Amino acid sequence: MSAPRLSRRGFLGILGGAAALTALSGCSLGSATGSTGEQLVSRMPLPEPFRVPLPVPPTARPVGVHPSGADLYRVTQRVAEVEIIPGTRTPILGYDGIFPGPTFETRRGRPVVVQHRNELPVPTVVHLHGGHTPADSDGWPLDLVLPVGDSSDWSGHGMVGDPAAKQAAGVREHHYPTDQRAATLWYHDHRMDFTAPAVYRGLAGFHIVRDDEEDALPLPRGDRELPLMICDRSFADDASFRYPGLDQGMRSLPGVEDDWMEGVLGDVVLVNGAPWPVHEVDAARYRLRLLNSANARRFRLALTVPGAPDLPLVQIGSDSGLLAAPVEHQAIEVAAGERFDVVVDFSVLPVGAEVTMINGLGAGPTADVMRFRVVRTAPDDSRVPERLSEIEPLVPPPGATERTFRFTRGAVRDHRGWTINGTSFDPSASLADIPLGEVELWRFVTDVHHPVHVHLDPFQVLRRGSGGAGPYDSGWKDTVDLRPAEVVEVAVRFSDHAGRFVFHCHNLEHEDMAMMGTIRTV
Ligand code: C2O
Ligand code: CU
Ligand code: CU
Repeated sequence: MSAPRLSRRGFLGILGGAAALTALSGCSLGSATGSTGEQLVSRMPLPEPFRVPLPVPPTARPVGVHPSGADLYRVTQRVAEVEIIPGTRTPILGYDGIFPGPTFETRRGRPVVVQHRNELPVPTVVHLHGGHTPADSDGWPLDLVLPVGDSSDWSGHGMVGDPAAKQAAGVREHHYPTDQRAATLWYHDHRMDFTAPAVYRGLAGFHIVRDDEEDALPLPRGDRELPLMICDRSFADDASFRYPGLDQGMRSLPGVEDDWMEGVLGDVVLVNGAPWPVHEVDAARYRLRLLNSANARRFRLALTVPGAPDLPLVQIGSDSGLLAAPVEHQAIEVAAGERFDVVVDFSVLPVGAEVTMINGLGAGPTADVMRFRVVRTAPDDSRVPERLSEIEPLVPPPGATERTFRFTRGAVRDHRGWTINGTSFDPSASLADIPLGEVELWRFVTDVHHPVHVHLDPFQVLRRGSGGAGPYDSGWKDTVDLRPAEVVEVAVRFSDHAGRFVFHCHNLEHEDMAMMGTIRTV
């Protein structure tokens, strides 16, 4: 295999005026599209929208019981070719060779162990986004799952329990205690400096946690509950994913190029890995678990119906589970990494109606997302209760620790990139040591769009600018969307797991260009 570069800092030299201009134009394009990033244009004819049926990823099945008593799962990361654009083959890096990866269905109080085996030509790191996970299973950006090479079994040469041996054999074990509320989590690659191109090539999947509280509610379920992973991609003339510098085939995974540090935007919108898909629905309520898994693109999602008002999106949950009460939206803005759990009522429409999910921040092909076609009437005993859950308000007490984190473009030691408080990601230097169990007030400040994500525990948004929390800030969040030159204050509290974690910008090009910080819970 070609040698992956372990750190790209050395390559980020001063580029002078031309680079500064590129950066500025990326920024101004960003304000036009509602995203910070630059669009990469596909080099093949784009397919007709609303022709490909919506795929629903298969559910992961446990292979047995781990010695700890947890349900044991195995995932093989491998290269595969899949049909994304009809009639063509796209090489991907896939969990079990599919994109999205298999969906985990887990229950609160039931621990899970996932062994990942890396048959890819590149190292990887597995992170469960939204997981309340001990540090050694969280996907620290240097906790590599090395390529398996010649080893052919799952046991780490028979030395079960020896992490070094497992790592040598290309297998790594992740322990998820699952002592957390029902919520839509997702798992994806998290390797330092190389997350953006790895996720872009397919390393992402859903991980749903359920619990008794949520099961007791009369929400839509079964076929009427759909996880929707929304992202954008561009395609090369051979139908492979087009990404800056990705012309050298699957054996190498270049990092983010300086000219693309604003963020990579594609011109094809994929939902569950299919371009602008269509889904046939009953005239009934549906629960949609919306996830923006894009590298950099923000979406403003709305449901349009020809000749009729838009269908409202009734939000029932946020990143970290149910809201206290439903919130009705005409449109929802969702930044990279965020999840919105919504109920949509198709029963107000006649059979034959077509409902298009549009992206109000897109233009041309990126203005459409997917379509629903109402094909039959059907009984429906679901409803959205007035009260969904109990949410404890997180209030920093008088004298609580306050921390300010500035997310800005910057140069550190003469290297261009993205910074938090003027520093680039340093695995060995903690930006904050936080006592477990204490409520703190954190203030995030931005220059351009930065969706800020904190590992380990969710937070609550207190203020946006001089106002209260914004319309999309309700409930427990683990990722908050910050627009250019914005100040957002959140209340954070970490519990249970002492150790080393990260927080970072979830624009993956920004993250790879070092907009990540180490924190320690103590
Ligand atoms: Cu979804 Cu640290 O990431
Ligand atoms: Cu995360
Ligand atoms: Cu950012």
